[in-house]
Amino acid sequence: MKVLITGSNGQLGSEIKELASDYKNLECVFKDLPELDICDAEVLNTFIIDQHINAVINCAGYTAVDKAEEEALIAQKVNSEGVLNLANALKKVDGKLIHISTDYVFDGNHSQPYKESDPVSPIGVYGQTKRAGELAVLNGSIDAIVIRTSWLYSSYGNNFVKTMLRLGNEKENLGVIFDQVGTPTYARDLAKTCLEILTGVNSVKISKNGNLYHYSNEGVASWYDFAISIMELGGVNCKVKPIQTKDYPTLAKRPQYSVLNKSKIKTDFKIEIPYWRDSLKDCIKKIKN
Ligand SMILES: NC(=O)c1ccc[n+]([C@@H]2O[C@H](COP(=O)([O-])OP(=O)(O)OC[C@H]3O[C@@H](n4cnc5c(N)ncnc54)[C@H](OP(=O)(O)O)[C@@H]3O)[C@@H](O)[C@H]2O)c1
Repeated sequence: MKVLITGSNGQLGSEIKELASDYKNLECVFKDLPELDICDAEVLNTFIIDQHINAVINCAGYTAVDKAEEEALIAQKVNSEGVLNLANALKKVDGKLIHISTDYVFDGNHSQPYKESDPVSPIGVYGQTKRAGELAVLNGSIDAIVIRTSWLYSSYGNNFVKTMLRLGNEKENLGVIFDQVGTPTYARDLAKTCLEILTGVNSVKISKNGNLYHYSNEGVASWYDFAISIMELGGVNCKVKPIQTKDYPTLAKRPQYSVLNKSKIKTDFKIEIPYWRDSLKDCIKKIKN
């Protein structure tokens, strides 16, 4: 199977790049801006047809949650129209799509982990545009799945883990929000899951039912808990103090609670998901090396 990975220089795309050679039945092609822009429907169609692409893992996205509030049109173009372009192009070649979405499609008013069947109600532009992208896939009459994930980090790119390690080495004290709760996800774990789903061993097949799944690491944490663990596992001597969301104003509102229920993906694809602190340990070890 020939697989195109879009947005391949981002966190998730880079992790897939590292793992892809372990999956001998997949021939992976990695593309990102400026070479392949998912917003350019014509170039995308031509590429998918000419290169005989059978499947796409869409790692491309406009992921700047705060900036999206000021650049709604650009966020919409990438997260919704770009995804629709992918779905349309794959329909022409009967190809499969794994598309990645976010916990920010929820408003955060739950106190139980969100299931795929729970109603969505995004509270910011980023979440709204990602929801539009989900619908483009789910209504696209193609063999596809959408995987919602949360709090992604990696040894690649910019993310909370790398920011905390940097700030922790610069400052003696750091205030971190304790009243937003979710689950950190190591992009490497999600990358492995995407590749395993595509190989289709021991699992349901990607089908036209347009299936929606939730994936994060196991467990629950606040950003404060996450930061404490980063300092501890990173050997950084910085005192982390809990602060409230109202004491750290941002352009975009974020859900207070966005823990995802992962039962469906674990059952359908027979996968085991690592506990978030175990994966964090692996990632920090990699960053330090
Ligand atoms: N990061 C998180 O915490 C998080 C949480 C939940 C869900 N997700 C979702 O997970 C997916 C992967 O996230 P990530 O953290 O790996 O993202 P990322 O590191 O920001 O990578 C996204 C990649 O897409 C590229 N890109 C942007 N616009 C594009 C376009 N029009 N055509 C092709 N490529 C384009 C970016 O290039 P430039 O850098 O040049 O713009 C970047 O290389 C995204 O769909 C995101 O919404 C992320």
